[in-house]
Amino acid sequence: MLRSVILAASRNGRVKRVVAGAPISRSVVKRFVAGETVDDAVRASTGLVDDGRTVTLDYLGEDTLDAGQADATVKAYLVLLQRLSDAGLSIGGRAEVSVKLSAVGQAIDPKLALDNARRICAGARSAGTTVTLDMEDHTTTDGTLATLGELRQDFPDTGAVLQAYLRRTEGDCRDLAHAGSRVRLCKGAYDEPESVAYQSTREVDRSYVRCLKVLMAGDGYPMVASHDPRMVKIAGELAKDRAAGTYEYQMLYGIRPDEQRRLAAAGETVRVYVPYGDEWYGYFMRRLAERPANVAFFLRALATTS
Ligand code: FDA
Repeated sequence: MLRSVILAASRNGRVKRVVAGAPISRSVVKRFVAGETVDDAVRASTGLVDDGRTVTLDYLGEDTLDAGQADATVKAYLVLLQRLSDAGLSIGGRAEVSVKLSAVGQAIDPKLALDNARRICAGARSAGTTVTLDMEDHTTTDGTLATLGELRQDFPDTGAVLQAYLRRTEGDCRDLAHAGSRVRLCKGAYDEPESVAYQSTREVDRSYVRCLKVLMAGDGYPMVASHDPRMVKIAGELAKDRAAGTYEYQMLYGIRPDEQRRLAAAGETVRVYVPYGDEWYGYFMRRLAERPANVAFFLRALATTS
């Protein structure tokens, strides 16, 4: 219930103005977002890479209906990729980027989003790294997978994201568990109807494990994106038969950093998803929705400063 309310608020312009405008929001947001500028993003990435982790960077923004804004997002990614390259971070994929198609024009025209995503993929290739397409709400799944297929013709290392809460996902995992296919498996962060998505934690977790089994048994490159200790443990067991370097763990910036370090120290590849930019509202609200304790943390911070 609380989750649905917060997720509805994440797409409400009026709530956005109140939350994004509250002075305290920025200090709480810092826990989940690396900063507002490309300098902040490069600094956070350097620290994580020096500490033995890898990163995927997300220039925050989503749901744009403005072609100029979509173009500005592409340009921001190209600047970022150049900076990562200059800092020696992108080579070998230690730093890659994650892109939301809705930020580069998917709702305006899928062809525009494809062309824009191509520009980012070309920038990533020049920097010696890759792009992963984030997955958004279920109305965009088919379109995003179609765009992924087009992109992979020219940029076969483009990564996909699949969400275990969707009923369709086990089938999508089978389709994408082939050689050369990088697939990030997450539980899913949007408010989805029962017709398309499992609703209970138990059902979502079971689906996650089924999907993991498909990906780990396949020839692709599974990216295990979860902070859930059970999912991490099961992934480790399923990966026992896989060669080192044929899968990785992924976690979000600021969430379970000790576990990220523990896995990296054990020799695992751990990639941290590092969001940055001033359009943090939607991302931040999804992080609040995932964990009631985060809401309490936010409200406490509000109360102690008012
Ligand atoms: P779960 O929510 O069950 O949490 C397990 C434990 O992790 C919690 O008990 C808590 O300890 C910790 N935890 C989880 N979330 C937390 C939070 N917000 N704050 C503090 N602690 C928290 N989703 C999507 O729909 N499309 C996408 O493209 C992506 N991309 C993506 C990339 C990466 C690298 C990750 C890790 C996740 C995503 N997600 C995503 C988000 C994902 O779908 C999901 O909402 C969150 O990862 C939370 O699910 P968990 O698997 O962590 O388990």
